[in-house]
Amino acid sequence: MQVPHPDIDRVLLTAEAIAARVAELGAQVGRDLAGADGQLVIVPVMTGGFIIVADLVRHLPQRRVRIEVVTVSSYGGKNMTSRGSQLLGALPETLVGKHVLVVDDILDTGGTLRLLQAEILRRGAASSRSCVLLRKPTEGAARTKCDYVGFDIPDEFVVGYGLDYDGLYRNLPYVGTLAMHARNGGDTQTSGAQST
Ligand code: IMP
Ligand code: MG
Repeated sequence: MQVPHPDIDRVLLTAEAIAARVAELGAQVGRDLAGADGQLVIVPVMTGGFIIVADLVRHLPQRRVRIEVVTVSSYGGKNMTSRGSQLLGALPETLVGKHVLVVDDILDTGGTLRLLQAEILRRGAASSRSCVLLRKPTEGAARTKCDYVGFDIPDEFVVGYGLDYDGLYRNLPYVGTLAMHARNGGDTQTSGAQST
């Protein structure tokens, strides 16, 4: 395996393990929606969802897929805990009768997915499903409906494959834990809404 980035303590999921699992998720989504008429609207949650969605949609070559990105913000810059989600980018006004799949990097408190699910159903979607690469064992995650989960991971702060710390490390091809020396004072908060 490649040598990890010096700021990474431990690689939790290799690029190969992620690729294999995303292929399985793609096959599962394709099977589940095989009988559904019309289009599948895939909603990547920016910014973290962009890598998994890019890989996932290429496992759905038989589907009529539209991609509609949304941006969800959480407050704080270097904060490592979620402090409430807010929808920034607009969802398409009409989702009536459409099958919608929200795709995000990680399910932590569940605030992001619950917010989007409610909004999508309010707009009359035929179905609203969600897919995440990672899920943490939190109370919030346990009460959040999620149809496709790549991996259940321990409650640790991770980066890579779309996941960031203060905007960095999204480009790592694997998922790993961030070393203490890279945490820049730890759980400090800077002001302003940040894209998740
Ligand atoms: P939720 O709304 O609390 O479920 O959190 C979802 C968002 O929190 C994700 O889209 C991430 O941006 C962020 N997040 C939660 N845990 C982590 C982590 O371990 N590393 C990086 N970002 C995280
Ligand atoms: Mg983030």
